Amino acid sequence: MSTVTTRNIPFARPSITQAEKDAVMAVLESPILTHGPECKGFESDFAQFVGEGAHALAVSSCMAALHLAYLHFKIGAGDEVIVPAQTHTATAHAVEWVGAKPIFVDCEVRTGNMTPEAIEAAITPETKAIGLVHYIGIPCDMPAIMRIAEKHNLIVIEDCALAVGSRIDGKHVGLWGDAGCFSFYPVKHMTTAEGGMFITKHADVAVSVNYLRAFGVDRTHQERKVPGVYDVPHLGLNYRMSELQAALGRVQVSRLDELLAARAKNFTQLKTAIESIDGLSVVDSQSTQLKNSHYCLVVVLDGPFAGKRNESIEFLKAQGVGTSIYYPQPVPRMTYYAKKYGYEAEAYPGAEKISDEAIALPVGPHLSSDDVQMIIETLTRWKEELAS
Ligand SMILES: Cc1ncc(COP(=O)(O)O)c(C=O)c1O
Repeated sequence: MSTVTTRNIPFARPSITQAEKDAVMAVLESPILTHGPECKGFESDFAQFVGEGAHALAVSSCMAALHLAYLHFKIGAGDEVIVPAQTHTATAHAVEWVGAKPIFVDCEVRTGNMTPEAIEAAITPETKAIGLVHYIGIPCDMPAIMRIAEKHNLIVIEDCALAVGSRIDGKHVGLWGDAGCFSFYPVKHMTTAEGGMFITKHADVAVSVNYLRAFGVDRTHQERKVPGVYDVPHLGLNYRMSELQAALGRVQVSRLDELLAARAKNFTQLKTAIESIDGLSVVDSQSTQLKNSHYCLVVVLDGPFAGKRNESIEFLKAQGVGTSIYYPQPVPRMTYYAKKYGYEAEAYPGAEKISDEAIALPVGPHLSSDDVQMIIETLTRWKEELAS
């Protein structure tokens, strides 16, 4: 007999302590509410966390960071950008917004990522960039992808929305390619409510994107010696971050090691148990060089669970286990893209499998070891019910 009692475990819950609340209140009591010293401090803290050579710029979202990247590199009409089919729609939208064409590439099911071979096979004379994604924090094979990019002279934009803390041979994702784009939406490893970070190893790219994200003006309010006097040497947008968000983000960065360690612990406990349940396989990094940042644990259903994805989600929900789906459809199957480019399911068996036959389970710092045990016991009971 199971000793499990019903709990309420949401898929994700931001970890906000008194320190975050104090930091936000301090900004509210200060005269500067946006694009000021907290933003500068947040950028420098984040760059330090990511590691040597990083230039970081705080922006309003990951989508904004991706848009800025394609704008900076002047990718546009007539160009093709290779993107994964298994991703959030923002990855492809950023390409669409600059007038280029996303070329969707399938993923392998065991990692959820595009393989270097699949990327190379999709390159045409029109290809200008690779817009890859580190699926749920599992790093892509960046050394191999960078060799392909160099061979074909392609820009590499890394969508690191779910990959704060993901590293390859110790080097953080986002520093392998030409730009890395992060998300601080509430369910992520760290949050600023809404918000994102653009990082790059190229100093000149950072200078240009700094203009692009803030109207193209040549000085911030604090840098203006005479109030109201500034110039606009470039075209730009308003993708700035507020001081409230940056102050929140700074405290979150200072807690990242603790937050990531809790995720790693929960992930390992859950993965070890799930792997011994017949019909469940875990999407994960395939080598210790590729450090997963454990955004969530995606489990692919087969055996007794086959064809029972939605029933499984309902069973878990009834027991108090929140889940999600990453991602609910291959992006080229979404109406906007299917209408524009057509959709052939046979081209995306990996993305179809994950979208239609997998469940994303929680591993965030809001879970105790008992919570993880309860998820394991719930899945075991569900399997027994399905098999009987
Ligand atoms: C891979 C990926 N890219 C981009 C985004 C968009 O992030 P944001 O909401 O910060 O724009 C998400 C959101 O989850 C994502 O998963």
